[in-house]
Amino acid sequence: MPTERRAFNVGLLGHGTVGSAFSELLVERAEEIERFNGLRPVVSGVLTRSAGDFEEILADAELIVEVMGGIEPARAHLLAAMRSGRHVVTANKQLLSQHGEELYEAAREHDVRLRFEAAVAGTVPVVRVLEESLSATPIERIHGIVNGTTNFILSEMANGMTYEQALAEAQRIGYAEADPSDDVSGRDAAAKMAILARLAFGTPVRLEDVRYEGIEHLQRDDLDYARELDLGLKLIGTAERREGGLSVSVHPTFLYSGHPLAAISGSFNAVTVESETITEITLSGPGAGGRQTASAVLGDVVSVMTGGARPPAPPLPLELVTDVDSAFYLHLDVADRPSVLAAVTKVLGEHDVSIKSVVQRGLGENARLVMVTHPVRESSLRAAMARVGEFDFLRSTPRTIRVIEEEFV
Ligand SMILES: NC(=O)c1ccc[n+]([C@@H]2O[C@H](COP(=O)([O-])OP(=O)(O)OC[C@H]3O[C@@H](n4cnc5c(N)ncnc54)[C@H](OP(=O)(O)O)[C@@H]3O)[C@@H](O)[C@H]2O)c1
Repeated sequence: MPTERRAFNVGLLGHGTVGSAFSELLVERAEEIERFNGLRPVVSGVLTRSAGDFEEILADAELIVEVMGGIEPARAHLLAAMRSGRHVVTANKQLLSQHGEELYEAAREHDVRLRFEAAVAGTVPVVRVLEESLSATPIERIHGIVNGTTNFILSEMANGMTYEQALAEAQRIGYAEADPSDDVSGRDAAAKMAILARLAFGTPVRLEDVRYEGIEHLQRDDLDYARELDLGLKLIGTAERREGGLSVSVHPTFLYSGHPLAAISGSFNAVTVESETITEITLSGPGAGGRQTASAVLGDVVSVMTGGARPPAPPLPLELVTDVDSAFYLHLDVADRPSVLAAVTKVLGEHDVSIKSVVQRGLGENARLVMVTHPVRESSLRAAMARVGEFDFLRSTPRTIRVIEEEFV
């Protein structure tokens, strides 16, 4: 007697870049998925702006996949789905970084799965690694390149393009949208770091709690000088335990060549997780793209079908701290006079800023001073730079960029 086939109905909210790739991938992979768990996933209904009815889709579905984006109606639909006992999978970083606790709580209360691998770091399976493989590991720090567009732009700048040329190239290839502001301002990366910080440290972190800075103001000569100091520039998200609290931020940051993230180029994403017990692990992979993201969404669907991980536990509040220590790169355009370096280092010393390395270059009447400091409290560095900015020999506003000192070689 033939075995009866059972369908596992998936209601799909959104049929754009990711949603249409997901529908195709599901058809391609359904037989293989059925072979190992006895259930065949099928799309039982699709909602777009112009077609489909949410209530009907919900009534037919065992699981809802949300790939619409935006806050509403995605939030209302996901809450309604969980309240009626449906599992949910979403790729929506905006929603999770602003309403994550409400969604996690609904999942716990109604005992359903809520999976969101595709919301963070493209295809890199960091959500699962944090929730499952490292769930017993006390994590100290996460660094992430979690926005492929900005990593592509910075890689092109390192190869000689200006910011404007690299952005135009990213738009031509389709990595950057016509309005790239969410990416280049650091806001997209900040949303992803808020989600990762919640998973790694158990503390609710909302997008508005993350300090972020973009790449729009970066100049190509910063990359050239930094190369002489063995430094490469990335947009880095950081979530780390500091001063008994938690610090979460996104900044353009220099890395020494021995750091695992220094080698991540083009539109790739990568995340390093550091802990005393594991030292450091790095996960990397393609940043985005319809089919790649759809593959992460389908992985979540299969995880739900096979009973996958529960939603994050109720939160453990840690204080969010903002004034933390970091090494800094300083770039000063100055008049080429004998006493300038001494005057600058005197002010820095008065604010406990000590210099690790210096590059000094004469440019006719003027000179350029590029320095890397040892780690210093950010507020001290800012106070020192405010005083340096008052010197009459300065030719432009001083520039500062963070530096990660750790290398793992
Ligand atoms: N694209 C990527 O590479 C990528 C990577 C990672 C994560 N994501 C996330 O995946 C989600 C979807 O991204 P996408 O690039 O696929 O977006 P998209 O191409 O703009 O598609 C959005 C889809 O959702 C539908 N939709 C939007 N608002 C709706 C509403 N109010 N009611 C009903 N349907 C609505 C749209 O309907 P119409 O067809 O009628 O317009 C469209 O089918 C976002 O959360 C995004 O952040 C995307």
